[in-house]
Amino acid sequence: MNEHLNFDCFLGKRIHLGVCGSIAAYKSLDLLRMYRKAGIEVSVTLTDGAQEFIRGLSFEALGAFKVWERMFPTMDDTFGHLEPGQAADAMVVVPATASVLARMAHGLADDMLSCQALAFSGRKLVAPAMNPAMWDAPATRDNCRVLAERGVEFVGPDCGDVACGDHGKGRMAPLESIYAAGLRAVAPKDMAGRHVLITLGPTREKWDAVRFWSNPSSGLMGACIAMAAWLRGAKVTVVSGPVNWWFPDDVSVIKVGSAQEMFDACMSVWPECSTGCFTAAVADFKPIPHGAGKFKKDGNVSLKVEFDTNPDILKTVGSMKRDDQQLIGFAAETSNIQESAQGKLERKNLDLIIANPINLPGAGFESSTNSVYVLDRAGRSEEWPNLPKTEIAWRIWDHLLLN
Ligand code: CTP
Repeated sequence: MNEHLNFDCFLGKRIHLGVCGSIAAYKSLDLLRMYRKAGIEVSVTLTDGAQEFIRGLSFEALGAFKVWERMFPTMDDTFGHLEPGQAADAMVVVPATASVLARMAHGLADDMLSCQALAFSGRKLVAPAMNPAMWDAPATRDNCRVLAERGVEFVGPDCGDVACGDHGKGRMAPLESIYAAGLRAVAPKDMAGRHVLITLGPTREKWDAVRFWSNPSSGLMGACIAMAAWLRGAKVTVVSGPVNWWFPDDVSVIKVGSAQEMFDACMSVWPECSTGCFTAAVADFKPIPHGAGKFKKDGNVSLKVEFDTNPDILKTVGSMKRDDQQLIGFAAETSNIQESAQGKLERKNLDLIIANPINLPGAGFESSTNSVYVLDRAGRSEEWPNLPKTEIAWRIWDHLLLN
């Protein structure tokens, strides 16, 4: 269910993974796999504590191109303590124990990982995992404050049950949070300063107490677009129909049901945004409700339902668009794609429209790939072949930023 995180456009980037002695150490193997899938090179250092839980061989087997375990390995690796600082784009310490946080805060350099951390001037992320009493200890609090002041990014810890049976803050953050933060650390920051509004998913128009009118949109395309913007440094607000995509904590998610609720949410957020991308499959019509209760068969053999129109959210937002705002719309089509896209671009006052056939295999609703026709305000058009939706999302932002 995390298809919206499957970006694979990080070729040439490298993350150095520091693994410490905590029961959560085994989870770093999954993290390595996830980064490798994104095209990222991964090197690893295991502390002595980590080696009590897990072996370097496991990381090598899963594709780490270099694993350090000891401070003084061999004659031909004399400068291993400096190498990640010279060659990796980010350092991710997971799980980060109280001990390694203390070493990093105080500049100790008496084991390989602390040495590498000290010599690493790039972006550093730590995902702490420890007993809540250790996390709350004044020494740890001071160390974390010092590290945060120096620009080290903390992912978690979360509240919950920890391995020893205690409950409190100290549980390692979910892997997707650590994974996404690592990707963001190595992604370009070309969307920094933008506030992006994204609508996604279907809307549900209630008819009676148990029935509604809707469509099969999964919201995947919008979720990929939101993640791509977040990775590239934008502030992101998502207005989401009834689907459940995971987003990082600092993405603001407004959950809505009906088109009217989506309209109201967009109206309140749009004035403070610089960029909008409207992917939601909004129901153009809503059934006139039967009433508050449940419709009963009561011997009826047929049923007539009357419909009313819903507001066109994108068209309304387009009519309010200022010169400093940019707007992207989608067009779900079954025929005449290019003409329909042109018409919608003009009618809704868009800067860019992404039209996709919803009746082809591998495109549209509930598919992890899409084929699209892209048309911008200046009349430039492109056709993108069948691609993963994450790739399409990345290209949409490239296109908007370059033109
Ligand atoms: N949209 C919207 N509010 C609506 C209908 C559509 O915000 N009530 C947005 C969609 O999110 C999409 C764009 O408008 O970005 C085009 O949606 P689409 O369903 O393709 O087109 P419609 O404008 O509804 O026209 P039609 O159904 O006649 O093709």
